Amino acid sequence: MRISIFGLGYVGAVTAGCLASHGHYIVGVDVHPAKVEDFNKGIPPIVEPGLDELLKDAKAKGLLRATQHCADAIADTELSIVCVGTPSNAAGGLDLNFVRGVAREIGEALRASRKPHTLVFRSTMLPGSTAKLVGELLGDLEKSGALRVFYYPEFLRESTAVADFETPSLAVVGSHDGSAPPADLMKNLFGEKAAVVNWPTAEMVKYACNAFHAAKITFANEVGRVGKAVSVDARAVMSLLCQDTRLNISSYYMKPGNPFGGSCLPKDVRALTNLARTNGLSLPMLENLLASNERHLSSLLHLITETEHREVVILGLSFKSNTDDLRESPMVDVAQALLGRGYKLRIYDPALNLAALVGANKRVIDTKMPHLASLLHTDLATAIGARGLIVAAQKCAPLAELKKLVTANHHVLDVNGWADLKEFSAKYEGFCW
Ligand SMILES: NC(=O)c1ccc[n+]([C@@H]2O[C@H](COP(=O)([O-])OP(=O)(O)OC[C@H]3O[C@@H](n4cnc5c(N)ncnc54)[C@H](O)[C@@H]3O)[C@@H](O)[C@H]2O)c1
Repeated sequence: MRISIFGLGYVGAVTAGCLASHGHYIVGVDVHPAKVEDFNKGIPPIVEPGLDELLKDAKAKGLLRATQHCADAIADTELSIVCVGTPSNAAGGLDLNFVRGVAREIGEALRASRKPHTLVFRSTMLPGSTAKLVGELLGDLEKSGALRVFYYPEFLRESTAVADFETPSLAVVGSHDGSAPPADLMKNLFGEKAAVVNWPTAEMVKYACNAFHAAKITFANEVGRVGKAVSVDARAVMSLLCQDTRLNISSYYMKPGNPFGGSCLPKDVRALTNLARTNGLSLPMLENLLASNERHLSSLLHLITETEHREVVILGLSFKSNTDDLRESPMVDVAQALLGRGYKLRIYDPALNLAALVGANKRVIDTKMPHLASLLHTDLATAIGARGLIVAAQKCAPLAELKKLVTANHHVLDVNGWADLKEFSAKYEGFCW
């Protein structure tokens, strides 16, 4: 392919070198004359291991040139990749001015050249940005079919960028409506294994990845600080933590849904942060886990009370499926709050046997919901009733039976990620998706 690369910084220069090594013809575009001059000589405008050889080789094969002029690049290529910077603005927001400038220039060049073109944004941009830029600056070209636009986030790390480009840790491409890009682009550019989603999902994946990386580093550092304060080698602790690939380094606990609860997580987070405090340490991330969890619970309550329903059915009261443990169960708090606001409540939880509850578990009921017995239904049909909001906190009822009972008079609020519920005749809403 003949490809323009806008922005010859860390991402653009590596992208140029790697794509040229695959045999593509590259025209680099940058506003900095010095970068363009270097690039035209096959000299990398940045320091990155392995890039010198790639650019030198590309130059020798006649596969590389650079220009400051957008129209020149567009006239010479069929596809453009935008890798310009997206820095923070003074308020901490995203400054899209460089991308906007490039998109405007590309639009003007394409209207003049009347050639079909493909545009791929690689700059990191918040969800909605591609749609906004296309709507503001390129809508006519896209609608006429002259321009196809993709968002293709970059996951390379500086210092290992060439290897990361060749074998990315993740490949995701966003198209306007989530439909698959043409096979030649999948093969030559995105990679045949790339996941295809819509623009905002691809944009959000990049931010979720970077926020997750930042959260991992901060978590390890906070464990390190509290470990050192109590003479424990936290590097040894974290290395053992990483050996658990079932719960720790895995997709477990990584799905948006129920707040955490139960007899261990809240209590143990409280104890660890208390230990840090008594040692004079501040651990903002760990200290805010419980606050964030409470905020999550409040947002669930808000969603429930925003619906017009005054009858609510809770599927699953205990803190997770197949247990009768009610200690610090978020759904107990939801139920208590709804009762306090005068809602008509029905609860279905086949794992709960009130007569068998003892000790701390029974105390939860005695103090928080003394009338639980009158709300708890053992018969699913009675629990579901003829109407109301079904808050599905657990997959605790057989799907086939539920399907027979849920009607268009119900509204399903899925808290746990139970996709089958979408098939019901009732209105479906995901809690945080
Ligand atoms: N650096 C990384 O490791 C990395 C990794 C993944 C994603 N990203 C994202 O990729 C984007 C680029 O990052 P970077 O580190 O390569 O940025 P950079 O600042 O190193 O390079 C950006 C280049 O764009 C050029 N530029 C600005 N306006 C231009 C215009 N109108 N026309 C042509 N060129 C123009 C600048 O002169 C500069 O050379 C950012 O959105 C960044 O968040 C960066």
